[in-house]
Amino acid sequence: MTDYTPKNPDPWEDHAGWWQEQFTDGADPEYVEQILPLIRDNLLGSGTVVDIGCGEGQVARLAADAGLGVIGIDPAHTQVAEAFRRGGSPRYIQGSAVDLPIATASADMAVACLVFEHIPDVDAALDEVARILRPGGRFLFLLNHPLLQTPDSGWIDDQMIDPPELYWRVGPYLDECDTVEEVEKGVFIRFYHRPLGRYLNSAIRAGLQLELMIEPAPPPGFLGRTPEYSQVEAIPRLLFLSFRRA
Ligand SMILES: C[S@@+](CC[C@H](N)C(=O)[O-])C[C@H]1O[C@@H](n2cnc3c(N)ncnc32)[C@H](O)[C@@H]1O
Repeated sequence: MTDYTPKNPDPWEDHAGWWQEQFTDGADPEYVEQILPLIRDNLLGSGTVVDIGCGEGQVARLAADAGLGVIGIDPAHTQVAEAFRRGGSPRYIQGSAVDLPIATASADMAVACLVFEHIPDVDAALDEVARILRPGGRFLFLLNHPLLQTPDSGWIDDQMIDPPELYWRVGPYLDECDTVEEVEKGVFIRFYHRPLGRYLNSAIRAGLQLELMIEPAPPPGFLGRTPEYSQVEAIPRLLFLSFRRA
């Protein structure tokens, strides 16, 4: 957490390049081995999908390759411009999850991958998901696991006990808060933390029914890069939820 005055009101405009370099185009083992396969396995066979917070378009391109008609939406011009540049058949629109430029009951699917952690008004955004889905439509919702990635969570290397212990401390999970984290030197990203029940109850109130929840173990490529994680490989970093529009 730190004081930070962004150049742009949206810090993603400043830092899209960091995201694109570190987490897309095969650079990140969690995307390659886990996130993209999970999404691929849960896509419908046909229809239209709205990729909310599409970034540079890696999920949108995956859905398009699977035969869906795709519209990617992101407020950051630097993300949408790169999505256009990387090409493929998805259409892209600059816009926000809380005011989707999509007709009511027009989409067969929506997907939001690691996006809602950056959205202050979660209720408005989930209302928008429910609004654009046709009845029976699917919503794939991926989050950094809200319990285990709570702010102030992290490694504790306790050398004062015998034998010394390395463990994962969980921060104040029940407190909703927003923090600006320096995720890499000079890269400041704002995160909104909420307990899982806050997301679920908001989704249920919006008319979304939970059908599937997956808490995958960190994938081998990630554990290989971050050897200390191998001691807690039964602690998930990701949460995958699939909802159906009532
Ligand atoms: C961690 S990136 C994920 C990008 C993409 N979903 C992926 O998985 O590659 C988060 C994205 O959320 C977008 N975002 C932030 N606030 C948003 C909002 N209110 N509505 C939609 N997207 C938003 C950011 O611009 C950024 O591109």
